[in-house]
Amino acid sequence: MKKQVVLYKKLSPMLMSRLQAHADVTLIDEPKSDGLARLRAALPEAQGLLGASIKLDAALLDLAPKLEAVSSVSVGIDNYDLDYLDQRGILLSNTPDVLTETTADTGFALILASARRVVELANLVRAGQWKRNIGPLHFGSDVHGKTLGIIGMGRIGEALAQRGHFGFSMPVIYHSHSPKPAVEARFNAGYRSLDALLQEADFICLTLPLTAETEGLIGAREFALMRPESIFINISRGKVVDEAALITALQQAQIRAAGLDVFEREPLNHDSPLLHLNNVVATPHIGSATHETREAMARCAVDNLISALAGERPANLVNPKAWAVR
Ligand code: DGY
Repeated sequence: MKKQVVLYKKLSPMLMSRLQAHADVTLIDEPKSDGLARLRAALPEAQGLLGASIKLDAALLDLAPKLEAVSSVSVGIDNYDLDYLDQRGILLSNTPDVLTETTADTGFALILASARRVVELANLVRAGQWKRNIGPLHFGSDVHGKTLGIIGMGRIGEALAQRGHFGFSMPVIYHSHSPKPAVEARFNAGYRSLDALLQEADFICLTLPLTAETEGLIGAREFALMRPESIFINISRGKVVDEAALITALQQAQIRAAGLDVFEREPLNHDSPLLHLNNVVATPHIGSATHETREAMARCAVDNLISALAGERPANLVNPKAWAVR
């Protein structure tokens, strides 16, 4: 008999057929609006779940007594309670690797856009305010040759370092749990304590996951360590940063600019002070959002789920403890 899968993210027709060959699929479109009630209603029969961007907490998953596997269409796993999943032997899988390069591209787009004031000045042209050659008031800052500081040297951090080192001749410094000799050799990168990196880097880029340890990692004290020329880039998770402290740092010119793809609350409220600051480039969590990458992530998630429901260990299993107790 086919397993019951609840899908809370739309798949391409090709991937939908692939999944349907292995499972009976119920699609809950837009689970964030009225769909949440439909998602709840579908949970009692669900053996597999596939989707992203919904916090699947214990209260929600208690409604799914038959659940065997959750396949997240994301690399980030901050929407899941790992202890709870482990206890119940529910397998969680994610989609690493396939989004690494695209997310690093997004990081670099934010570096370039904030340093060269691309959005602000493009808006000026669009508003008909380009009347004469621009002068120092509208100059940006160089990217090439500046020091790239990466906090969290995982796959995406490395891909960012590659772009900075080989493409823009940037000295690379980084902070992570522990030094990574291979990274240092490849990009001539230097390990720094967090405080030293904040003081030294021209571009401070967050690429680390949201965990209990990293939540609120960058706050008022950390912004105070940065230099007035520093540009702050966040492509990890909004909650790694104290957003109120970031706003104050920008308003008081403690840092020069910020390029932000992630926020404490998403979607970002339209009345956020961040949107009143010309030196902020804000994008709507587009880290992995290209046609090619989102399709590759969905394919990876479908394959993970098919394996898990067939009793096989999914290629991207996040919680091996659940595999042991299932
Ligand atoms: C991820 O894959 O974690 C991206 O941030 C999308 O949520």
